[in-house]
Amino acid sequence: MKRDQWKSQMGFVLAAVGSAIGLGNIWRFSYMAYDYGGGAFLIPYLTALMTAGIPLLILEFAVGHERIGSAPLAYAKIRRRWEWLGWWAVTFVMFGIVLYYMVIIAWCLNFFFLSFSLGWGSDPNAFFFQEFLAVSSSPGEIGRIRMPILGALVFLWVVNWAIVHRGVRGGIEKMNKVFMPLLFLLTVALVVWSVSLDGSELGLRAYVTPDFSKLGNPRVWIDAYSQIFFTLSLGFGIMIAYASYLPEKSDITRNALLTALINSGYSLFAGVAVFSVLGFMASSQAKPLSDVVSQSIGLAFIAYPKAISMMPGGSVFGAFFFLCLVVAGLSSSISIIEAFISAAVDKFGFLRSRLVTTVSVLGLVGSVIFTTQAGLLWLDIADHFITHYGLIVVGFAECILVGWIFDIRELRRHLNGTSSFRLGRWWDILIKYFVPLALTVILAGDLIAETAEPYGGYSWISLAAIGWSWLIVTMLTAFFLASRPWRTAHSKLDGRKNSTK
Ligand code: ALA
Repeated sequence: MKRDQWKSQMGFVLAAVGSAIGLGNIWRFSYMAYDYGGGAFLIPYLTALMTAGIPLLILEFAVGHERIGSAPLAYAKIRRRWEWLGWWAVTFVMFGIVLYYMVIIAWCLNFFFLSFSLGWGSDPNAFFFQEFLAVSSSPGEIGRIRMPILGALVFLWVVNWAIVHRGVRGGIEKMNKVFMPLLFLLTVALVVWSVSLDGSELGLRAYVTPDFSKLGNPRVWIDAYSQIFFTLSLGFGIMIAYASYLPEKSDITRNALLTALINSGYSLFAGVAVFSVLGFMASSQAKPLSDVVSQSIGLAFIAYPKAISMMPGGSVFGAFFFLCLVVAGLSSSISIIEAFISAAVDKFGFLRSRLVTTVSVLGLVGSVIFTTQAGLLWLDIADHFITHYGLIVVGFAECILVGWIFDIRELRRHLNGTSSFRLGRWWDILIKYFVPLALTVILAGDLIAETAEPYGGYSWISLAAIGWSWLIVTMLTAFFLASRPWRTAHSKLDGRKNSTK
């Protein structure tokens, strides 16, 4: 069957931006920036973007484009023995990240409706944890399924299914052409509104003032690098699959730069709204900015509702804010599903429509655990392990495979032959030396911190049963899938110009 292709380069960039911009840009970026006092986070964040984010995004686009394949196929075309790496990425993303990612979008959809009546009442903190999530005391106490969350989740999976089912050009590209402009308009409205609030300048000042003393803390660097991975969807297998749908003549490096800059520009811009609202809260409660939110992870679901209840016209603002999160989240979740679908179709030649239905049903069933009373705890553990170990290890392995095992100069020649922005040797150096070294430091830092003290204060048993086992089971699945014979014409495993060894 002929490989689906994007209708235009713009369609591809919008889809890549759609994948990149997600909950990570609004919910995750803002709470991290807040945790480190605003401006202090921007320096490590921008450093991570330039030194690892952009070089790796170029690499993922290049691998997908030059080898014409989803992650497992593209890696297999480089070295057959590395196919498992692609399967691991698309498996822990499809049967890990997207399961809880959809549940967070389901929370946002609930909060969108709650905004109209300010349904979280006078104590959004108690509402969120005790009433809405009704969080249990440990991951082992599963409790009941939260029906409002499950209802929204079913709806959102149906939306995902309907879009991915229509294919790359007919579903994903068309949807992003609507969703991305809509998201930008909603965000501009949010930013304009929030900067006009009393006290917003207080928050903005903290946002743009760098605090150099915080840069000595290794955590801020570790968090900045993991945030860049999450936000650019690196190590997910998505960008490889998306680039494989590009025609031969495509300006890869320009597209990568555009995607990375629009994505980070969006985070920085959305941060203006977040910090303005924080400034408004600080000034109306006469508290220092650092004291207005107690648990930064709840910024979107606790601090925002609180601010929305306090501000004039808050319910409309709230509806805009949560709709932004839903739209941004959906354009990322469909890309995650596509990364897996594309891999399975490439290898096993399944009928796409039937596969999308099966995977969506499995995804929905898998998500249910995160709608229970223990859902937040499971989500916290799964997210920590998959993003900190899964994504970073995949990024590291990609650098080794492309930088050391494959001839990176060949890939650079391919890129320079098709792109307007030419890459120099600096790119080889970053991929071969700097990025793997930076990722090793991050991994080591995380592991050392983890062995000294269990993550998040959970029991070792919970961490092993949920976090480590998630990584191990998906890795075993990846080895199994990689060991199966190719059932499609791709079994020849050849790239645009070169054949495999
Ligand atoms: N890149 C997506 C996000 O930031 C996964 O949410």
